[in-house]
Amino acid sequence: MATLSGALIGCGFFAVNQMHAWRDIEGAAIVAICDRDPERLRIVGDQFGVARRYTDAAALFAAETLDFVDIATTVASHRPLVEMAAANRVPVICQKPFAPTLADAKAMVAACAEAGVPLMVHENFRWQSPVQAVRAMLDSREIGTPFFGRISFRSAYDVFSGQPYLATGKRFIVEDLGIHILDIARFLLGDVKSLTARTARINPAIAGEDVATMLMDHKNGAISVVDCSYATRLAVEPFPETLIEIDGSDGTLRLAQGYQLTVTGKSGTTVTDVSPPLLPWASRPWHNIQESVLAIQRHWVDCIASGKGPATSGADNLKTFALVEAAYTGAASRQPVRIDDLLE
Ligand SMILES: NC(=O)c1ccc[n+]([C@@H]2O[C@H](COP(=O)([O-])OP(=O)(O)OC[C@H]3O[C@@H](n4cnc5c(N)ncnc54)[C@H](O)[C@@H]3O)[C@@H](O)[C@H]2O)c1
Repeated sequence: MATLSGALIGCGFFAVNQMHAWRDIEGAAIVAICDRDPERLRIVGDQFGVARRYTDAAALFAAETLDFVDIATTVASHRPLVEMAAANRVPVICQKPFAPTLADAKAMVAACAEAGVPLMVHENFRWQSPVQAVRAMLDSREIGTPFFGRISFRSAYDVFSGQPYLATGKRFIVEDLGIHILDIARFLLGDVKSLTARTARINPAIAGEDVATMLMDHKNGAISVVDCSYATRLAVEPFPETLIEIDGSDGTLRLAQGYQLTVTGKSGTTVTDVSPPLLPWASRPWHNIQESVLAIQRHWVDCIASGKGPATSGADNLKTFALVEAAYTGAASRQPVRIDDLLE
């Protein structure tokens, strides 16, 4: 397979994981990088040996011949950069949150569709191996048809030291973290009919909400609770584990802290350690997320090679993004929100 030539835009905190993962993938190579901050450009360029460096994305597109671009900037720049990629007919990966608003996200999907370029949102949590193990168990039908799920992320980990911008936005946990957990709920239990939400801010030092509880009616009749908190101190800090409980017509499944998957189903009870591997460049506790970065980027290369659409295409991600919008509007109005009304 020919090696795809890619460029990375945004050389910040998280992009370093993406650069490590690209180095591990045979079918792709990052040939150029861009960051408007020359210091970040120098650090990442030197660390990964990338000589072609740009402080301006337009200059990057003008000078390089690219098979894809990987956008790892923060959300404010996502729409202009994705539209720039579409205008240059370059397939594009965009970090989450996909856009500041659902209207922006719809416009980005339309721009890429009109240009005929693939668009994938870097929605990596569903690619974590423990979450994939849960999906495989549901596919085996061991617990029958799911009727209830709880997808939970509760922690007191200090995310603000690595990502200081998270403390300053009016929106915090649903937009930044809940978006992943809501996507896992969709991945496991299907698309959503309506969502009811309550949010709170417990940490007085931040601008946005750090606790959110969401109740969802899925289109197939299942009910789920998605609960997220960065204000929950526990005996053993679980960051960044997503805990999952699913009840089905023939049994139950529990993904508990420590990556223990207990399944009680048609063939009895099994307990399996579904810990993610610790990649050579990864570090605990982030290794779960770091492994999922490698998995989603591999998926992208497979999709480009085969012509298949990515699992978390821009169009797919609109359905996750709508849940985020619904959580904010529903928490403000204290009313349930119909998801299809947002997607029309
Ligand atoms: N998927 C995940 O698991 C995960 C985890 C952490 C962060 N993220 C996401 O990754 C994105 C980046 O987060 P971060 O913590 O690395 O942020 P960061 O602020 O550390 O890095 C962003 C970088 O982008 C650069 N940049 C911004 N606008 C630019 C533009 N128009 N052109 C060129 N460079 C530009 C900045 O100079 C900065 O170096 C966010 O959207 C965040 O939500 C995802």
